[in-house]
Amino acid sequence: MSAQTMRAIRLHEHGGPEVLRYEEVPIPELGPGEVLVRVHAVGVNPPDWYLRDGMSNLPPEVRPKFTLPVIPGTDLSGVVEAVAADVDGFAVGDEVFGLLRFPGFEGSTYAEYVAAPAADLALKPAGIDHVHAAAAPMAGLTAWQFLIEVGHDHPSPFQSARHRPVALDTGKTVLVNGAAGGVGHFALQLAKWKGARVIAVASGRHEAFLRELGADEFIDYTKDRPEELVHGVDLVLDAVGGPDSKRFLRTLKRGGSQFPVFFGEFDEEENAKLGVTVTGTQVRSDAAQLAELGRLLDAGTVRVAIDGTFSLADARAAHERAAQGHIQGKIVLTIA
Ligand SMILES: NC(=O)c1ccc[n+]([C@@H]2O[C@H](COP(=O)([O-])OP(=O)(O)OC[C@H]3O[C@@H](n4cnc5c(N)ncnc54)[C@H](OP(=O)(O)O)[C@@H]3O)[C@@H](O)[C@H]2O)c1
Repeated sequence: MSAQTMRAIRLHEHGGPEVLRYEEVPIPELGPGEVLVRVHAVGVNPPDWYLRDGMSNLPPEVRPKFTLPVIPGTDLSGVVEAVAADVDGFAVGDEVFGLLRFPGFEGSTYAEYVAAPAADLALKPAGIDHVHAAAAPMAGLTAWQFLIEVGHDHPSPFQSARHRPVALDTGKTVLVNGAAGGVGHFALQLAKWKGARVIAVASGRHEAFLRELGADEFIDYTKDRPEELVHGVDLVLDAVGGPDSKRFLRTLKRGGSQFPVFFGEFDEEENAKLGVTVTGTQVRSDAAQLAELGRLLDAGTVRVAIDGTFSLADARAAHERAAQGHIQGKIVLTIA
């Protein structure tokens, strides 16, 4: 391989995991405000497979069109290799992690090198390795922006109401649905960090894992219906969403809130009758929030769980694993 090229995963067409091609491509050139990162690990997130399959979860008339070929990926952890002249705050050799250019699909992190906006990067916590750091940005920032601080004023593409986190403390009870997944396991831990009581909903295999992360109660949704067992909670964070999300409204007390992380189907009139609020947001790259989350990761206050790792060349197998569902924590690609 020449000095000017690198290995990366590219899509030349949309489709299943088999369209992820491991290829030799040019190393990206550094633009203003950017840092060239030698990538050590890449976090795999749902938007990676939404992009891969051409956003088939959206109606055809609203599907964005992508210029192919494209390198997927938004999350990385690696080492700074070069810094643009106008960038302060990073030096060659720094270990960094980040969620790049999101929302948007130009992160291009499934690669050995990435020209990353410096504004999207934070220093990697020294206490965790690249695999764990790469797993944190999108899922961790999503939980942060839903529960702690939004950090931006952009409305969600799925709802015009502005999202405002609920102040969490020891007097609050939070139900997290989809608690074992990427977003869910961070949400559970951030709610516990704030002192709230947490009810975790997931399939039974995740019980020990979620209790270890601090869940006060666990409901196996394959055996019990949480909406029949739980009443009077302050907040539901639903990381599963979809048409079924509405059933959690009846677990809320009057004045309570439901935060669908994946869009659901709600009726303003019904929400008003129940006296509850339903709002969501779309995660955005935010280096300052990532640095704060990094401090919690460094201290071990928040942990990153790894479902499994795959080499970059084997990204197809990583996406096949993701398609099986029931993810516990995060899937990560590694680069030797
Ligand atoms: N708004 C935003 O900006 C934003 C940002 C990030 C992600 N998202 C969306 O949020 C969703 C979650 O993302 P993620 O990265 O956390 O996904 P993930 O890692 O795949 O986690 C999904 C979890 O949901 C659980 N689950 C599946 N069906 C369930 C059910 N019926 N009831 C309860 N749990 C169920 C799965 O395990 P078990 O079934 O074994 O429990 C899995 O652990 C995705 O749809 C993603 O697109 C939105």
